[in-house]
Amino acid sequence: MAQHFLTGAELTPSELSSVLARAADLKANRAELAASRGKFAAKTVALIFERPSTRTRMSSEIAVHELGGHPMVLSGETMQLSRGESIKDTALVTSRFAHAIGIRTGSHATVETLAAEASIPVFNLLTEEHHPCQALADLLTLQERFGTLEGLRLAYVGDGNNVTASLMVLGALAGMTVAVATPDGYAPAPTAVELAESVATAGGAVELTGDAQQAAAEADAIYTDVWVSMGDADSEAKKSDLFAYQLNSALMSHAKPTAIALHCLPAHPDEEITADVLYGQQSAVFDQAENRLHVQKALLEHLLG
Ligand code: CP
Ligand code: NVA
Repeated sequence: MAQHFLTGAELTPSELSSVLARAADLKANRAELAASRGKFAAKTVALIFERPSTRTRMSSEIAVHELGGHPMVLSGETMQLSRGESIKDTALVTSRFAHAIGIRTGSHATVETLAAEASIPVFNLLTEEHHPCQALADLLTLQERFGTLEGLRLAYVGDGNNVTASLMVLGALAGMTVAVATPDGYAPAPTAVELAESVATAGGAVELTGDAQQAAAEADAIYTDVWVSMGDADSEAKKSDLFAYQLNSALMSHAKPTAIALHCLPAHPDEEITADVLYGQQSAVFDQAENRLHVQKALLEHLLG
């Protein structure tokens, strides 16, 4: 059976630790690894993008290249998918050619169908419901800053979206408390909360609140994401509902003095995060972006053995 990575809940706690440790090792020894290419020689990873991307596209393509394999980037628009070919047939055919499939698409059900029909590993490069590769990079960033993940308090403020879901799942799996503050009507999907609770290890928990300051209190990190995600309708009403959940220096002052600010990017400075926090001394946002590359390599090694 091919191993997949659709939500992050597929990993055991020890596999998560190994992937993060390997990512840290790959980061520290990037040149050495480049010299030892070969493990992935003759391996092709299909990377299907049905939605725009900067970081995920670059980190996935460079990760496969640096591992010694061939990244085949496919735009959904140029595939027969755009003319109605089924995900099932796409899975069956791609499994005959490639060694793994990464996909960014809209509905999470699409990724689940792809994984069910493929005989090679499938990994999720973002759906409207989950973004687990991003959360792996976020955990590596927290581990670098604090030395450990167990017992950390991560506050997430804003729209309860795909990034929130993956932070809850992988954060709980790593033994962290993920405190999510959203206005009424913007809470994370109950299925994502249930999934996070089902994989939580000792100390791992999800807290849901309407109060951003309560979530941020004594936090080790405060995270936010855009108020309007890909596939969402742009709406002034939504932005106004979320305004009190902006990540700004006033909110940072409720966290520990050592706390870091996180954002998966792309950001809208002075909307969901103020520019002074995004580019300030407590920001770890660009480390997060870099870490997408290192965790992507470790994940590919894990999935492809
Ligand atoms: N954070 C993230 O997934 O960025 P992209 O949409 O640019 O890939
Ligand atoms: N929540 C955002 C994340 C982008 C990386 C979106 O889905 O558009």
